[in-house]
Amino acid sequence: MFKHTLEGGAELRILETRHAVEFLKFIDENRAFLGRWLRWGAEIRSIEEAEAFLRRGITRYVEDGLPWVGIWLEGELVGGVLFFPVDARTLATEVGYWLGESAVGRGLVTRAVSAMLDYAFGTLGLHRVALQAEVGNEKSVAVARRLGFTEEGIRRAAGVNQGRYVDMAAFSLLAEEWVRTRCQR
Ligand SMILES: CC(C)(COP(=O)(O)OP(=O)(O)OC[C@H]1O[C@@H](n2cnc3c(N)ncnc32)[C@H](O)[C@@H]1OP(=O)(O)O)[C@@H](O)C(=O)NCCC(=O)NCCS
Repeated sequence: MFKHTLEGGAELRILETRHAVEFLKFIDENRAFLGRWLRWGAEIRSIEEAEAFLRRGITRYVEDGLPWVGIWLEGELVGGVLFFPVDARTLATEVGYWLGESAVGRGLVTRAVSAMLDYAFGTLGLHRVALQAEVGNEKSVAVARRLGFTEEGIRRAAGVNQGRYVDMAAFSLLAEEWVRTRCQR
């Protein structure tokens, strides 16, 4: 069972379908904040849709061994980290993350993604983790930079947000870079 306590007391736990009610409540309370940058934050509106989203995470966990985790602070779900499917040939994946509005500004996502990068590179032996942030999502770009990701450039019209094509800033981090980053801390 994957469970990890972050410095400061927040807990990472695997997101499961049994969390659907809590997850939907979290989305409902943060819909405008999440939906500004995350399509699913705007779209998930029912328990069934929340369950389907969480089931996708469990399916990926079964297939790749890389869990989608929630961040619980003082017993409340306040955010999470997810991964896209692992490419078995290149041992590469992509990470995504989110927080509720009241949980920003404390380094929670930086610490949560950091723990999951330890798992992805250290435990699973992955080689490369990508990250994409919509151009203009400065808080997300700051997370990428804080974690030592390298900016590769702008992928033009590579995302869709609220019905419009949007440019995405592409970042990546390699296993050997993560080891160096960890050693310097
Ligand atoms: C992107 C998002 C997760 C960033 O949240 P965040 O709180 O800024 O990120 P972190 O949890 O890493 O916290 C960093 C902030 O906490 C501060 N901080 C406090 N203690 C810290 C610590 N121990 N370590 C790191 N940062 C710390 C940092 O200075 C920074 O604050 P600043 O932005 O005022 O400089 C959040 O804005 C969000 O969920 N947005 C909506 C969804 C979204 O955009 N997801 C990403 C899609 S690509």
